[in-house]
Amino acid sequence: MKVLVVGGGGREHAIVDALTRSASTREIVCTPGNPGIAAQARCVAGLQQPQALAELARAEGADLVMVGPEGPLAAGVVDELQRSGILAFGPTLAAARLEGDKAWSKAFMQRHGIPTARWRSFDVLPLALEYAQSQPLPLVVKDAGLRAGKGVTICQTQAEAVQALAAIFEQPQAQVVIEEFMVGQEVSVLAFADGLKAVQMPPSQDHKTIFEGDTGPMTGGMGVICPYPLGEADCQHIQAAVLDPVMRGMAAEGQPFVGVLYAGLMLTAQGPKVVEFNARFGDPEAEAVLPLLTTDLAEIALSCAQGRLQPQQVRFADSASAVVVLAAPGYPNEPVRGIPLTLPMPGVNQRLYHAGTAVRDGHLVSAGGRVLALQACAPTLPAALREVYDLAARVGFAGAQYRRDIGGRLGLTPEV
Ligand code: GLY
Repeated sequence: MKVLVVGGGGREHAIVDALTRSASTREIVCTPGNPGIAAQARCVAGLQQPQALAELARAEGADLVMVGPEGPLAAGVVDELQRSGILAFGPTLAAARLEGDKAWSKAFMQRHGIPTARWRSFDVLPLALEYAQSQPLPLVVKDAGLRAGKGVTICQTQAEAVQALAAIFEQPQAQVVIEEFMVGQEVSVLAFADGLKAVQMPPSQDHKTIFEGDTGPMTGGMGVICPYPLGEADCQHIQAAVLDPVMRGMAAEGQPFVGVLYAGLMLTAQGPKVVEFNARFGDPEAEAVLPLLTTDLAEIALSCAQGRLQPQQVRFADSASAVVVLAAPGYPNEPVRGIPLTLPMPGVNQRLYHAGTAVRDGHLVSAGGRVLALQACAPTLPAALREVYDLAARVGFAGAQYRRDIGGRLGLTPEV
């Protein structure tokens, strides 16, 4: 089949890379893509609006469209594709609210008995301030809209809560979710969803703050280990307590969920609780998880779009994967663009995904906050970490920021 991939970051590079291993895929087109993706697929310059994307899919004769980022999903690209009779892997606008509207999402969890942190939502500042002041610290303040993973502040003091709330309410039509701070290990459980059922991928763990030791501002994600060591019983519990109720609830409310259902979970002393849902592959979780997929991504995505996914279609290698993100100096606030990049040839078990790169005057340069996502597979996580850090050491990127402690929350260090 011919597959059109929408997006141009590290996640979409990993999707395209997985499609190059798909026997059912004869052609891959990506919009807008990036210089790394261009080595593996034909890239078509940036189209953002749902109608323009649907026209492109029609003009290309795409059999399937896979939508990577949350932006086009929240703009209704899947609805537009469906109206045009084109199969799409991704949720409709209504189903994407699970990610795009955090207040709605929390209310959905409440309606369907899905475990999550205690919360309240507000659309005016004075009531939000009054509630925040009545709550114990630390406290989590979330912008209810889409903010590329950066709309969350963990407030250690009331002054920080006031500041975070004031910043959110500077925007028009702001809404905020204030929730209790949960303690535990954070795990990303992604699942392929066909509208009725969700089939899990191996659990992974992202590292969301910019600095080592889980300090500094939140980012889109700085590195991942996969699999996070959850037992079979834990995975079954997450299926029964979180994923299945989402699938049933969304279908019952008339908006069946198709695409990647991403449950961000906290493993608390009371069991797993949902931190947030995303309606797409995580980035950089996709870069860690997809290299382990041994079955055909396009077949899986097509089956999801047609509501006929079989669990046996989804198989992963029994090995480990690690991702380290190289970010530009100044990220996440003001990333420096235009820094020359020199890329090494990755080894057989290493991959180099482009996230924010561009070609200027014939030279590869940084063009975003997260610039490269480096990945390695190995039989164990310490070996995968060693491989990925070896690759990082060979990249030429002056001033690159990257965390040297990926896996450290589990006490893992690169094997020497
Ligand atoms: N890695 C976090 C996210 O994709 O939202």
